[in-house]
Amino acid sequence: MELLQAIETRRSVRGFKSNPVSEATLRRLLAAAACSPSYTNTQPWEVTVVTGAKREALGQALHALAQAGLAGKPDVIAPAQWPADLARRAGEHNARRFKALEIERDDHAARDGLRLMNYQFFGAPCVLFLWLDQSLSEWSTFDLGLFTQTLALAAHGLGLGTCLQASLTHYPDAVRDFLGVSDSKRLMLGLSLGYPDPDAKLNSYQSSRAGLDEFVRWYS
Ligand SMILES: Cc1cc2nc3c(=O)[nH]c(=O)nc-3n(C[C@H](O)[C@H](O)[C@H](O)COP(=O)(O)O)c2cc1C
Repeated sequence: MELLQAIETRRSVRGFKSNPVSEATLRRLLAAAACSPSYTNTQPWEVTVVTGAKREALGQALHALAQAGLAGKPDVIAPAQWPADLARRAGEHNARRFKALEIERDDHAARDGLRLMNYQFFGAPCVLFLWLDQSLSEWSTFDLGLFTQTLALAAHGLGLGTCLQASLTHYPDAVRDFLGVSDSKRLMLGLSLGYPDPDAKLNSYQSSRAGLDEFVRWYS
């Protein structure tokens, strides 16, 4: 797949076929992601890959916590209030998504069902967790973002789909305990990975983008 075409056609996938992703493919993907640039080539990313019975058990544990309505305690905190333009985009995104999925605004059960699907990785056979050492700064978060997008694009190039999920960081202690990860590592992001199911209703929605005029200023 041509690079620009890959960039322009990648999208979040929220419905997967059950086919496993081979270890060779996972290794190829991770090696491609590791080609990403980083601050003085520090390569701060750390990745845990969860498949098979472990993925099943972890999905059940996280789903149970979310279903019980247990308040999360993520290592990375979202802003208490987003700037107005960003809040508007998020509101439009949610409204368009619910409309595409035929979920009424006040249908709390359907909305909750959608939220909970995050914790079962939207049916993906593989879930990745991305970590950074707690001593690191925003520079390394920047590096991890580059790594993540490279991974998502490489996956797309290989016919795989990804969904990056802040939701999967809501219960970091549970994930650390389950995987035996040290308390000194911050859980930055979860990522579901697998072969996209084109018939899944959740994959029928496509996000939009702000025009250049909203975020670029030109000087000459
Ligand atoms: C840091 C980050 C966290 C995200 N968390 C979630 C999530 O918890 N659940 C989800 O369904 N999508 C999540 N997304 C996906 C975004 O909703 C998606 O990228 C955005 O709407 C743009 O759509 P696209 O990826 O299809 O282009 C996340 C994306 C990013 C970059």
